[in-house]
Formats: sequence, C-alpha cells, structure tokens
Amino acid sequence: RHYRIAVIPGDGIGKEVVPEGVRILEAAAETFGFRLDLQHHAFGSCDYYAEHGTMLPANWKELLTPTDAIFFGAVGWPATVPDHVSLWGSLLQFRREFDQYVNLRPVRLMPGVPCPLAGREPGDIDFYVVRENTEGEYSSVGGTMYPGTEREIVIQETVMSRHGVDRILKFAFDLAQSRPKKHLTSATKSNGIAITMPYWDQRVEAMGERYPEVRRDKYHIDILTAHFVLNPDRFDVVVGSNLFGDILSDLGPACTGTIGIAPSANINPEGRFPSLFEPVHGSAPDIAGQGIANPVGQIWTAAMMLEHLGEVEAAHAIVAAIETALRDPASRTRDLKGTATTREAAEAVLRAFAAG
Ligand code: NAI
Ligand code: MG
Repeated sequence: RHYRIAVIPGDGIGKEVVPEGVRILEAAAETFGFRLDLQHHAFGSCDYYAEHGTMLPANWKELLTPTDAIFFGAVGWPATVPDHVSLWGSLLQFRREFDQYVNLRPVRLMPGVPCPLAGREPGDIDFYVVRENTEGEYSSVGGTMYPGTEREIVIQETVMSRHGVDRILKFAFDLAQSRPKKHLTSATKSNGIAITMPYWDQRVEAMGERYPEVRRDKYHIDILTAHFVLNPDRFDVVVGSNLFGDILSDLGPACTGTIGIAPSANINPEGRFPSLFEPVHGSAPDIAGQGIANPVGQIWTAAMMLEHLGEVEAAHAIVAAIETALRDPASRTRDLKGTATTREAAEAVLRAFAAG
C-alpha cells in the first residue's frame, strides 16, 4: 500500500498543526506497514498570494489530480488578504473542481473536553453529519430585478438534481449500513419548502428501500436543531442538503465543545478526484505563532484521511490515542484548560499511539 498525499498547511496555525498531523501519519505508516509519498506545497496560503498575486499556481490541478488525498491545514490571513479572496482562491476551488460532493464531520464527545451540554459523558454522543456539498440552496440560479427601486425583487433558486440528491443519500446510507446502530436521520422542511424538500424526502424513501437494515427517520430542520442540543445521543448518521447540512455540521461539533479538535472531510467517494481532509477550525490569527494551538483537530483529520484511504486499523488507533492523551490534563492545550504547547500535546498523542 502506497499513498501519494499533497500536504498544504496554508496560513496561521495551519503551519503549526499540519507538521504534527504529518508526524502521526508517519508513525502510522511505520506501525501499520504502508508507504506515504508526501508532497509539500506552499500554495493555498496568503504568503503565496503576497508573492505571486494568486492563491494557486496555474498548474495546481495537474499537481493535485494524481494524488490520493489532500491533507490541508487552514487558509486565511485577513490582515493581508480579504477572506473571500483567500477562500474562493483555494479551498473552494478544490471542493468544486474535484467534485467533493460529500462534506463529512464526526460529532463525538471526547474525554477532557468540557461539554456544553450538561450531564453528557464520552460515549454518549457519537455520530456523523453528512452534508451535500455541491448544489441545493447554494446555487447561482437567480438574480435581482429592478435593483435599487421600490419594486426590487431578489430571487435565488434551490437546485436539486436526482443525480446530486441520490449520490449524497447513497453515501449516507452506506455509512449508516457500516455502523453498529444502522440508523439514518434525514433533515427536511417539507412542510414549509413544499417543492424541493418533498422531493428530497421522496428520494430518501426510494434510497431507503435499498437498505432494509437501516432504520430511517426524518425531522424538520427547526426541531432537529433542538434535538441536537437536547438529545444528541439519538443520532447515528444525519444527512442534509447543502444549507441544512452546513448548519448541522457547525452545530454538531459545537455541542461537543470541539473547535480545536474537530476534523472534517470533503470527499469525492468514487475516487475520480482526490478528497480533501482538514480540521474544522480556521487559521486562528489571534493565537498564531505562539505554539499553543491545539493540534488534535489536525491529528484527528489524519485519522479520517487514513480511514478514507482504507487504513481503518491505523485510523482507529489514532482516534484511540487521542482519547487516551486527552484524559491527562497535562496533555491538553490552553483551549481545553490545559498548559501543554502544540508540540507537547502532539507528543502525548504520539506516545499513546506508540503504547497502544
Ligand atoms: P478560527 O477557527 O480560526 O478561530 C476561532 C477561535 O477559535 C479563535 O479564538 C481561535 O484562537 C480558536 N481556535 C481555532 N482553532 C484552534 C486550535 N486548533 N487551538 C486553539 N484554539 C483554536 O476562525 P476565525 O477566527 O473566524 O477565522 C480566522 C481565519 O481563518 C479567517 O481568515 C477565516 O476565513 C479562516 N477560516 C478558514 C477555514 C478553513 O480553512 N477551512 C475555516 C474557518 C475559518
Ligand atoms: Mg459552515
């Protein structure tokens, strides 16, 4: 087994946590006997932009297309480059051009992480949010009529294609099928949004027929957000359209108190293009350069990437090492009320990995 990985640290704490993610990847390769060909890139950062006037080189697609995955840090340095320029010039290019139509985020309560929901223990909350990443509410169909006048009308259409809806549902059902609880929850709003959302519900039913072992239910998005907060133990795999999935994929990790430790994946499941793995957090300019960023989000991201590549055992071993390390207050960074530096927190995970 041999994987070609593009490594793009990006900006701010991305440059501090990505090397720690790389160290666990290398340790996993050593322990589990696979090979990594890591290709480090300085593009996709605001430093690169300062030098070249663009976020990516003209041949970025040729460079990245042959890789098996992209290991990404965070992009953004608003003091020098406006966020819409840095984001649209890098990350959003990757997501679109590589048809990464699945956005996947685990929601899991980890030890040592103060849970904002009272009375929850690690083990109580453990599910995935699956977000459709290419169509739906975030379409470019629409426009403004009579702009600037009292007759002004602004329209933006939701686009749901059978292809687009079915492929995200298939991914979500496959994921649910692979998990012990085999439970899929669909986010809908078919009472209010009376054309596209009933269609979504219909496709969920149709896809569900093909997965007789998967128990399925659906909630309107408003009450679903309430259940995320009140009954997070109810969920296993939650699938939503682009907008609903966007909301839920921030709310889920927030319910487990995890900005510095949550990972995410942008996936092209067919493997026609590389998938991209990144922590949920951004470049954190407020703490960048101090060596105090929590590296766990990037390390968990490494585990997600390995799982996607088929190195499931290695992935589980890394997540177990994170859980072990987080139990010790001395191994936690400041955001988790600890005193560890980025390097010390990462070392603790590496030690637990080696011991496990
Ligand atoms: P942010 O996630 O960078 O920071 C929010 C807060 O969380 C800050 O107080 C930060 O110090 C803290 N934080 C984040 N990650 C942490 C970690 N690993 N350890 C300890 N504390 C951590 O979000 P913000 O401030 O809204 O955005 C900063 C820049 O990052 C902007 O340029 C934004 O566009 C970009 N960004 C990029 C993302 C990406 O690359 N996918 C995602 C979110 C923001
Ligand atoms: Mg969001």
